[in-house]
Amino acid sequence: MNFSAFGEKFTRKSGILELMDDLGKAAAGTEKICMLGGGNPARIDAVQKVWEESLAELQAEGLADALVSYDTPQGRRSFLEALSGLMKRTFGWDIGPENVAVTNGSQTAFFILLNLFGGKDASGKLKKILLPLCPEYIGYADQGVDEDIFTTFPAAIEEIDDLLFKYHVDFSRLKVDGDVGAICVSRPTNPTGNVISDSEIEQLSELAESAGVPLIIDNAYGAPFPRIIFEDVNPFWNVNTILSMSLSKIGLPSVRTGIIVASPEVIEAVSACNAIISLATGNVGQVLTESLFESGKILDISRDLVMPFYRDKSVQAQKWLRKYMPEEVDFRVHKSEGAIFLWIWFRNLSITSRELYERLKARRVLVIPGEYFFFGLEEEWSHSTECIRINYSQDAELVEEGIRIIAEEAAKAVKR
Ligand SMILES: Cc1ncc(COP(=O)(O)O)c(C=O)c1O
Repeated sequence: MNFSAFGEKFTRKSGILELMDDLGKAAAGTEKICMLGGGNPARIDAVQKVWEESLAELQAEGLADALVSYDTPQGRRSFLEALSGLMKRTFGWDIGPENVAVTNGSQTAFFILLNLFGGKDASGKLKKILLPLCPEYIGYADQGVDEDIFTTFPAAIEEIDDLLFKYHVDFSRLKVDGDVGAICVSRPTNPTGNVISDSEIEQLSELAESAGVPLIIDNAYGAPFPRIIFEDVNPFWNVNTILSMSLSKIGLPSVRTGIIVASPEVIEAVSACNAIISLATGNVGQVLTESLFESGKILDISRDLVMPFYRDKSVQAQKWLRKYMPEEVDFRVHKSEGAIFLWIWFRNLSITSRELYERLKARRVLVIPGEYFFFGLEEEWSHSTECIRINYSQDAELVEEGIRIIAEEAAKAVKR
């Protein structure tokens, strides 16, 4: 079949396709698989109960009425009001419904945003999305309609103790020149669990503002919802910031609801793209959670149910890593500050993380090889073949078994 350039690019074997395929096959199959790949959030019983109660209430109030018409391409008016109202009350942000748009998942929001600010401009000049921290979320890597829309450079590495390390933005290398169309960072970062600090965010915001480009913050795991953040940091927004949020990681990945908070100009642009791409956004997630935004209960669910669940899981997974990893394996784990992943750095293996992934897959343990998260780099960085990402949020028995097998395979691959 003869595809267009767009068709060729978007049908390639991408990292995100491999990841979602692995995830789907593991979910559909009957054999036992330690699914530590993918980004599926956990099923938290107490949270599940909230959705069931909300659904029951809605059904009594006439849920069907909400489903029989299209909402506007910006989203459902009452939801936009509830969300902006909550953010304004809680953080004092000067926003209203005109500052919010809904998308069909935040993945779609990124497709829109990265192509609004990255790629060829009207004069044919290639605008880049600057990623101030590398490694960064695999899901952005293939989203550019044009090739090579990302630029980045290696993060600075701090070794914290005998187990932990942490990436920092290397501000000495961060240059926002005329080629940059936007700065983009996930906070907490997928894959590493890093949470860039308040002062790093403020520095990035100042740099973006003085260069006249927006700062896009991907808050898929961040505060105030789902609040999978174990550090004491503040949510950030100003009129030059595009804050992307999602209902997925609070436990509703299949309602496909992404939320953008930005200037009215950006909101209008996102809404215009929504209309062309999807007419309107699905409203099940908005209808289901609207009263939780109105009452502020979404913040309590995040703080009291979601965050402690993941924090405990992360601590447990780190204990298993210490327990099972033999001494001859020189490894470190990124300090777990948020999100649902541990990022493991192997420092003395004779194989790449891609090869380790294949060996683990043969033993029915699915992880994500780190190579995928280093896109946009303009220089070689050996570190990019030394890391894997594991999702620690699934059933304890499978996570422990998976970590035990990872330790066994790492031991076999130690450079002799
Ligand atoms: C950092 C980050 N951003 C965005 C997304 C997209 O999530 P969704 O489309 O489910 O909102 C994900 C999903 O895993 C993610 O990890």
